Amino acid sequence: MTALTFSTSSAASLRADVVVVGVAKGAKGPVVASGAAAVDKAFDGKLAATLETLGATGGEGEATKLPAPAGFKAPVVLAVGLGEAPADGGAYAPETLRRAAGIAARTLAGSKKAVFALPVDDAASAEAVAQGALLGAYAFTAYRKVNGNGKNENTKKENAVKEPLAEVAVTGTKPRDKAYKAAAERAATLAEEVNRARDLVNTPANDLFPKSFAATVQDAAKKHGLQVEILDEKTLAKGGYGGILGVGQGSSNPPRLVKLSYTGSKNAKHLAFVGKGITYDSGGISLKPAGHNETMKCDMSGAAAVFASIVAVARLGLRVNVTGWLALAENMPSGAATRPGDVLTMYSGKTVEVLNTDAEGRLVLADAITRACEEQPAVIIDVATLTGAMVLALGHRTFGIMSNDDAFRDVVHTAAKEAGEASWPMPLPAELCKSMESPIADIANMGERMGGGLVAGLFLKEFVGEGITWAHLDIAGPAFNEAAPFGYTPKGGTGSAVRTLVRLAEKAASGEIL
Ligand code: BES
Ligand code: MN
Ligand code: ZN
Repeated sequence: MTALTFSTSSAASLRADVVVVGVAKGAKGPVVASGAAAVDKAFDGKLAATLETLGATGGEGEATKLPAPAGFKAPVVLAVGLGEAPADGGAYAPETLRRAAGIAARTLAGSKKAVFALPVDDAASAEAVAQGALLGAYAFTAYRKVNGNGKNENTKKENAVKEPLAEVAVTGTKPRDKAYKAAAERAATLAEEVNRARDLVNTPANDLFPKSFAATVQDAAKKHGLQVEILDEKTLAKGGYGGILGVGQGSSNPPRLVKLSYTGSKNAKHLAFVGKGITYDSGGISLKPAGHNETMKCDMSGAAAVFASIVAVARLGLRVNVTGWLALAENMPSGAATRPGDVLTMYSGKTVEVLNTDAEGRLVLADAITRACEEQPAVIIDVATLTGAMVLALGHRTFGIMSNDDAFRDVVHTAAKEAGEASWPMPLPAELCKSMESPIADIANMGERMGGGLVAGLFLKEFVGEGITWAHLDIAGPAFNEAAPFGYTPKGGTGSAVRTLVRLAEKAASGEIL
């Protein structure tokens, strides 16, 4: 993990490989952003003009490298675009800073130390720059040789990857100031936990399966003082968890239900987080065609987000109680697998006709939701890569929010926005329920294709206990980035929803919600 420091020193005086500055889009060309005054001075006030010559406009997403002026400890300056400066002359939006810092950190893979001289005039901006840099520096190197560190010596030299940026120093901050200290701690904790979720999502399914996932959770729980309880396949059978068992029974890697609890304070609010943890989704007997299964190791992203967010909440010591439920199973076809047409008796006692074994997420989630509701939490939030339909509706960067309570749905939407995650409220139109009617069971696991993401949400709603506020986040779009990296988001696992869940816990801890 990239190291983070805050500093009051001038960017020119710090020993580093690169100094990162911000450049805004002005009416007449690029403008050097605040935080880089000393750098501009060393360029005799000609930094903006030089950047313009190099083709920079100050637009978001730009990264321009140039040699540092004489007298600089660092040999290189990297200018990142910030878009138009805030009209009121105030601070940049945190997400703008987070993305710019992320691009810088990503561009600087292979470098040792970078000084970030971006516009940081308050603790919130410092936190955004730090978080963006630490998230942008992420690389998944477990299966590749990394230059310099001697890992995986068998990897061919030409396949070696660059070492992530090792050290980030954010200038313009007051490291001894309480607010800045808290900002540094929150930025590092959140980035590390988002990166924990990314690592899990990127780990291939031959190494990450229900049992190994549960063991990983147990290790982390020990380290961070969390309570953990693992229900194995025998315990699940005794308990009547027909949904989780039905999905997992085709695989030689049996399923698990993991309960992970953090107690911040006995009398604090209680939130329950439920995560879909399909460690591989082949579709089962309703097998996915080639072209649709190559990335399905990502189908445990919801469980990874729940796990990582609870560790983050514990590390931040929030005054709130959170119980996580990770519904872990591998969805595989075999002679023992659930067949299309089979009827499962769920943990709730409801019967479900499985018309399509590829609609497995809702089956494992239904059991976990019913179980979570038994403890009467103030709210329950499930996170799942649930439907391709949600990707069609909202694209690859935005997750959908459904809820049995419109006001709470808006609370989640606001929390996501504050955390810097794109989301959008979606409805749960009652008329779609009819399409899930089964001639022989209480409900079918599939309904109308149109509005498929909402149908899945309506299925889950059937398993939420009376009077319990519930929200469902369908992260099928943003959980895994198959396209090029952007901002602080890498290729592969993104850690989607971790920051939103932590933000919700913070709001509950402060009494702002619930
Ligand atoms: N895991 C998939 C959904 C998914 C699709 C996640 C693309 C990430 C990217 C889920 O289990 C699934 O297969 N859903 C089906 C449901 C259908 C059979 C009713 C789908 O969306 O096609
Ligand atoms: Mn599926
Ligand atoms: Zn799935």
